[in-house]
Amino acid sequence: MAQQVSFLLYGAYGYTGRLVVERLVSLGLRPILAGRNRARVEAVAREFGLPFTAFEITDSTAMDAALKDVPLVLNCAGPFRNTFTPFADSCIRTATHYLDVTGEIDVFHRAAARHCEFINAGIMVMPGVGFDIVPSDYLACYVKTRLPSADRLVLAFGKVDSVSRGTAATVLDQLGRPGLVRREGKIAEVSTAWRQRSFDFGNGPELSITAPLADVFSAYYTTGIPDIECYVALPCRVSGWALKIAHRFIRPQWFRGLLRRRLQKQDKAGPDAHQRAVGNSVIFAEASSREGQRVQAIMRGPEPYTMTALVAAAAVQCTLDGKARPGFQTPSPTFGAALISAVEDFEVEDLE
Ligand SMILES: NC(=O)c1ccc[n+]([C@@H]2O[C@H](COP(=O)([O-])OP(=O)(O)OC[C@H]3O[C@@H](n4cnc5c(N)ncnc54)[C@H](OP(=O)(O)O)[C@@H]3O)[C@@H](O)[C@H]2O)c1
Repeated sequence: MAQQVSFLLYGAYGYTGRLVVERLVSLGLRPILAGRNRARVEAVAREFGLPFTAFEITDSTAMDAALKDVPLVLNCAGPFRNTFTPFADSCIRTATHYLDVTGEIDVFHRAAARHCEFINAGIMVMPGVGFDIVPSDYLACYVKTRLPSADRLVLAFGKVDSVSRGTAATVLDQLGRPGLVRREGKIAEVSTAWRQRSFDFGNGPELSITAPLADVFSAYYTTGIPDIECYVALPCRVSGWALKIAHRFIRPQWFRGLLRRRLQKQDKAGPDAHQRAVGNSVIFAEASSREGQRVQAIMRGPEPYTMTALVAAAAVQCTLDGKARPGFQTPSPTFGAALISAVEDFEVEDLE
């Protein structure tokens, strides 16, 4: 029987927001849909027979009014660099739990810095309940459990076949920023493609480079491991050195403008149903210790946007079921395997 639980989903008419709405409805949940464009929210709400509201994130009065009677908001409107803080402020004022699907490391940083404020308000703030970071957070926790003495963690993400316009715009926003790794528990700036390493994601060795992914920040909270590097597989046969040189010579502002204009012309909002059905995702994790011990595992799962809808909806369900913990939280320590269990075709294999 359908559950009549009310919570807010902001960014409902975006590519990802809409996928999450579909999943939530299939679970019998009835979110109040929201976004800044009334006509576009209303269209999605009518399609699914759901209540809706519209407000700008700059209108704190309207945001407070929308949040004050719900226990939870799931924010799917990114770049989250722009939307996180207004929501965090309003969630504190209205005692509302907060989830989002960001993969932006800055947002995690900002959320963690306000941990005490969230505790005082009695709310949980958990960014990243999508493809990044739910499966990688689970995998980090998994290898740490296999090697409790680990003091070094490597996470590597296989190629993603197709990304949404919103993801591309968010990545563009980050272009030209320094690389980041974690050293002795602290975030350290490094150059672009600082380290290169090959990983076998299932099709032989693929050159990958270090990248400032959210897990550099979050995996420390999840595992306590002080040294963390994240890698992404290069999309084509470009060497890491070529990338370093290109990064040096392309003026990021100019380059971003050009790419943004190209992006606006792209008619597809994101991978279509067929691409989502045939796509997959692969993440590799390695934990090692100073004593020379090492464990490795690989996770295979569905296409990233499909995964995002599944795990974000599971995070909503867990929060509504009373499993939230006040403060800035990461998924695995809070919800255990509950989020990843919502993904049927998900497997973890021990390599070493
Ligand atoms: N971590 C992960 O694994 C993961 C997975 C999926 C998506 N994401 C992230 O989620 C975000 C959305 O992706 P998408 O594919 O859904 O993009 P999209 O189709 O472009 O949708 C973006 C949505 O956010 C809204 N929005 C953006 N800025 C806003 C603002 N300042 N105020 C109010 N609403 C705003 C947009 O509304 P308007 O159309 O009115 O601007 C739209 O509804 C991206 O940042 C993406 O990187 C992360």
